[in-house]
Amino acid sequence: AAAGGFALSAQASGGSAAKASNASGALVFDKDAYTELTTTITDAAGDDHEVKYHFYKAITYVTKPVDEKYQSLNISVPVAIDGRTVDATGAPILLANAVGGYMPSSVADATGVGGTAMTGAPGAATGGAGAGASASAAPSASASASASGGVQSGGNAMLDGRGEMVDLGKLALVTGYVVVEPGARGRTLVDSSGTYYGTAPAAIVDLKAAVRYLRANKGRIPGNTDRIVSSGTSAGGALSALLGASGDSPLYDTYLKEIGAADASDAIFASGDWCPIADLEHADMAYEWNWGANELSSGSLVDQAVSKELTTAFADHQASLKLRAKGFGTVTARNLDAYLVRTYLEPSATKYLAALSDTARAAYLAANTFITWSGGRATFSWKDFLTHVGARKKDAPAFDAFDLSSGENNLFGTGTTKARHFTPYSLRHEGSSGARPAGDLPAKIDLMNPMYFIGKHHPGRSKHWWIRVGTKDSDTSLSVVGNLALSLENLGDDVDAFMYWDAGHGSNEDPADFMAWIAKVTG
Ligand code: DHB
Repeated sequence: AAAGGFALSAQASGGSAAKASNASGALVFDKDAYTELTTTITDAAGDDHEVKYHFYKAITYVTKPVDEKYQSLNISVPVAIDGRTVDATGAPILLANAVGGYMPSSVADATGVGGTAMTGAPGAATGGAGAGASASAAPSASASASASGGVQSGGNAMLDGRGEMVDLGKLALVTGYVVVEPGARGRTLVDSSGTYYGTAPAAIVDLKAAVRYLRANKGRIPGNTDRIVSSGTSAGGALSALLGASGDSPLYDTYLKEIGAADASDAIFASGDWCPIADLEHADMAYEWNWGANELSSGSLVDQAVSKELTTAFADHQASLKLRAKGFGTVTARNLDAYLVRTYLEPSATKYLAALSDTARAAYLAANTFITWSGGRATFSWKDFLTHVGARKKDAPAFDAFDLSSGENNLFGTGTTKARHFTPYSLRHEGSSGARPAGDLPAKIDLMNPMYFIGKHHPGRSKHWWIRVGTKDSDTSLSVVGNLALSLENLGDDVDAFMYWDAGHGSNEDPADFMAWIAKVTG
């Protein structure tokens, strides 16, 4: 056994995993409270490996939990792969959240890494959780990584480039990393008095509390708690980005104190974010700038007056960010389309086409004549790209629905109020005299937005970022993802951002590359 107090020797522990509750005690990790499991995991190359690991189940990560079912985490530590002993004492820790749709997410019933016994398996999910989202409007063949209703039940499965389900937790384990799967409260939770207790900022507060638990147990918990890499998809991707952007911000202190979070750092080393549904208070404007002219799956256009007003407002917002890109100067609403085409969309199509056989490439190009293929490079216009994507997924406004029906309206609910507006535009449309979100809302809106912290050059943020989205993902604007990456680049952070060509919401086409990236940045 290596230093750090973690024994690698096999240890018998009968029956199901011991439940290590900290509800009434200090948040001390019990290294002996595991079940030893053996499972076969297929690596990213498609090869099977026998992985022996220690599974620590349903550890409550705060001393004053509101709901332990959600405020608990599982830890999986590899001890042998294909019979060869693994020492994970100093391994990076993948903190893989399974949040989808800003819904509650629990790992309490998982029987192993990746949930293993999952209800509502991601592959069976039907579309996203936002306003106007419907299964039939799903923009591509890719399944959503999130369930649209009910509770998330662990697991981080997404579709890889071969149409196979890949679980990042399992992949990290077979790579030799320590895997932490945290649960978190979510927007739909309501107690017997009708009070919503998982609305903003509960989910991010819980994820921070999970990080604090790990860091408070430095030296006791297997893995390097100074090398925590978080991952998440969609709402989970936004929360992963927010974890990365807001490390050690005192703005969450009262919330963390309230639930009895450990007194430790909640900064993480690196952040992996797939199709982050982030920057919610600007997402309606961004959506119309991006998808405004695209029809809904019904063939109808959204209210064009609403769409145009939001698009106009977006120009001011984009200019206010003062983002700069090499070869583009300041990226405004006037050159953002060209910026996204040159920086992301054309390289994405190029990579996709280059990987095809000559016959398959010729067939794709014949069916998609908007692409010019020359010298091994794809070029096309933004307008043609939009036509190629086709139906937009959401009505207008996409996030702050006039009728308060979106998941995000619920996210900003409070007390016994299920849903609230969170943008001046929708408030005004509803004839509210106060034209801006007021009371507790402005602070909560900031606490949910990684762009708020990035805009403040927040020093506690992660300096390493992995950002991905599919080019046919119209759950949010591609500019949300592009601006997240560019704002971090402008701060000098290490950003690996890429878009998957023709991929829809929740896809992950390069999970092996992510594992290699973790090794590179944490090494
Ligand atoms: C998710 C999808 C959405 O369209 C949205 O608005 C919020 C979350 C999701 O899949 O997590």
